[in-house]
Amino acid sequence: MTDQIFQPFIFANGAQLKNRIVMPPMTTWSGNEDGTVSDEEIAYYRARAGGVGMIITGTTYTVANGRGFPGQFAGYDDRFLPSLAKLAATAKEQGAKAILQIFHAGRMSMPELTGNDVVSASDIAAPRPGAACPRALSEEEIDGIIESFAATTQRAISAGFDGVEIHGANSYLIQQFFSPHSNRRNDAWGGAREKRARFPLAVVDAVCAVVRSRASKDFIVGYRFSPEEIEEPGITLDDTFYLIDQLTQKPLTYLHASLHQYNGTSLRNQDDRHVVGQGLHRHIAGRLPLIGVGSVKTAGELAQAFDCGYELVAVGRALIAEPQWVQKVRHGEAVGHQLISRASIKDHSMPQKMFDTMKIYFPASIAD
Ligand SMILES: Cc1cc2nc3c(=O)[nH]c(=O)nc-3n(C[C@H](O)[C@H](O)[C@H](O)COP(=O)(O)O)c2cc1C
Repeated sequence: MTDQIFQPFIFANGAQLKNRIVMPPMTTWSGNEDGTVSDEEIAYYRARAGGVGMIITGTTYTVANGRGFPGQFAGYDDRFLPSLAKLAATAKEQGAKAILQIFHAGRMSMPELTGNDVVSASDIAAPRPGAACPRALSEEEIDGIIESFAATTQRAISAGFDGVEIHGANSYLIQQFFSPHSNRRNDAWGGAREKRARFPLAVVDAVCAVVRSRASKDFIVGYRFSPEEIEEPGITLDDTFYLIDQLTQKPLTYLHASLHQYNGTSLRNQDDRHVVGQGLHRHIAGRLPLIGVGSVKTAGELAQAFDCGYELVAVGRALIAEPQWVQKVRHGEAVGHQLISRASIKDHSMPQKMFDTMKIYFPASIAD
C-alpha cells in the first residue's frame, strides 16, 4: 500500500483525490463572534491545505441551538454563505477536495451557547461533570432538524464545497439518537435498535436527496461514526455493524470511523484484542471506502494505518503541529516528534484560541 499513498484515489462517484491522506475535521474555537469564519482560521487551513488529498473542515451547526462550541463558525443560515465560500475556496486552492462537516451538538452543548435550550432525543444528561439536562425534541422539531441538514448541504453546494460529512460521531445529536443511553424515546424515533437508527438514516436521506437534485454527480457525502460508547447502556460494535449495513445501502461516498488510535482495540470489552478499525473494514467489505484515523504521527504509523485496510487515513494533531507533515513524509523527512508549542503557533498559523483550548482538552499534544 505504501506506494499507493501518494497516488490519486477515485471514489465510486468519480471524485478524485490527489492522494490518500485526509485532514480530519478539527474545531478551532476561533471563528468570529458573528459566526463567520475568521482570518485566523483561513490562515490555519491555508497553511495545511497543500499536502492532503481532502480537507474536512471543523464541524458547523445546522440550526442555531445546535451550536457546540464558543468560536464555532456557523452554517445554519444563508447569511453565512460568503463566509462558507471563503473557507471552501481556501481549502481547495492547492488541489485538495473541501468537505464541510455538518452537525447538531444536542445534549453536548451548553445553555449559554443555545439560548438556554439544550435539546436531545430524550431528557437525559450526558454522564459528564456539569452537563446540562436537555429537553426532549418533539417529532415536529425532529423533522425540522433533518430538514436543516439538507438546507446546510444546499449551502455547502452553493458555497463551492466538494462535499459534506455528516457528523454522526463523538456523542453529538445524531449519535445521541442511535445511542440507547441518550435515546429513551418510545415513539417512532426510539426504542429498538432499528428505531434508534431512524434519525441518522433520515438525515442521510435528506442530505442525499438535495445532493441528487442540486449537486454534480461527483459531490461527496461522507458519514462519520463512533464505533462504540463507554456509557451503559451504550453503542456496541454489534450496533455499529448494524448501522454500517444500513448506511452502505445509501448513496454515500465514504464512511469515516472516529478513533483515538488507528489500531486501537475495543473500549467496551478489554478482553477483545482485535483491532476495531480492521474489524470495521472487514465488515464493510468494500461496500464503501473507510477513512481511519487516530494518533498517526510518523511515516511508519501512516503505513501501519493503511495496513489495517483503510482506503484513506486522516492525520489530525500531527498536521496541526507540522503543517508541512504530508510534504515531509513524501520527501522522507523525519516527522512525528513535534508537540504543539506556544513559540511555534505563529509560524504554524495556529489560532491562539485553538492553542489555549487544546491545552485544556488535549494536554498531551502541547509542549508548554
Ligand atoms: C482540536 C481538535 C478539534 C476536533 N474537532 C473535531 C470536529 O469538529 N469534528 C470531529 O468529527 N472530530 C473532531 N476532532 C477529532 C479529530 O477529527 C480526530 O478524529 C482526532 O483528533 C484523532 O486524530 P489525530 O490523533 O490524528 O489527531 C477534533 C480533534 C482535535 C484535536
